[in-house]
Amino acid sequence: MDKSDFIHKYIPATRPDAPTLVLLHGTGGNEDDLVPLGQQLLPGASLLSPRGKVLEQGMPRFFRRLAEGVFDLPDLIARTHELADFVDEFKASHQLGRIVAVGFSNGANIAASMLLIRPTTLAGAVLFRAMVPLVPDALPDLRNRRVLLTSGTHDPLIGREEATNLRQLLERSGATVLHRWIEGGHQLTPEDPQAARQWLATEFS
Ligand code: MLT
Repeated sequence: MDKSDFIHKYIPATRPDAPTLVLLHGTGGNEDDLVPLGQQLLPGASLLSPRGKVLEQGMPRFFRRLAEGVFDLPDLIARTHELADFVDEFKASHQLGRIVAVGFSNGANIAASMLLIRPTTLAGAVLFRAMVPLVPDALPDLRNRRVLLTSGTHDPLIGREEATNLRQLLERSGATVLHRWIEGGHQLTPEDPQAARQWLATEFS
């Protein structure tokens, strides 16, 4: 396997005008996890769903962490570029249009990292339960980038301040961010896909 390749699932579009959703699973997930969600969020869009290459006690992730919420920054940076290269190359070889990431937890964190250090790869992102993955030395130019961030009011892993810091970092970089607080914890509730479906229909159809 090429270094920039990932085990992945690809479902071509039946609506070629729709953006491609890049689905990024949480810790312990795989390329199959978010496919039903992606189909629900933007019916007919092409779906590209890679599997994270890092294993934590057998559980796939997109980058290494030293402890819960404490990231291995050099690994995060290298893996962010590797994933962005994969998405950029896939986009070119399949002649895809706009790319929107949909990530949950660890997948949302690497999507946020891509926005911050590879700002041209994504046109936007749905970040379910994301935190600040890293603070770049210089702010990226995220004008024309749109982000939906959904955070749980009682998330034991991500406090209110952390989620708010991410929103502010993205906004300071020029992104248009809708931050929705969802009554709940770290796991998704039915309100998350509802909010994402509505947001995608408004911003990306
Ligand atoms: C992470 O490691 O990305 C976050 O702690 C979320 C998680 O995967 O549990």
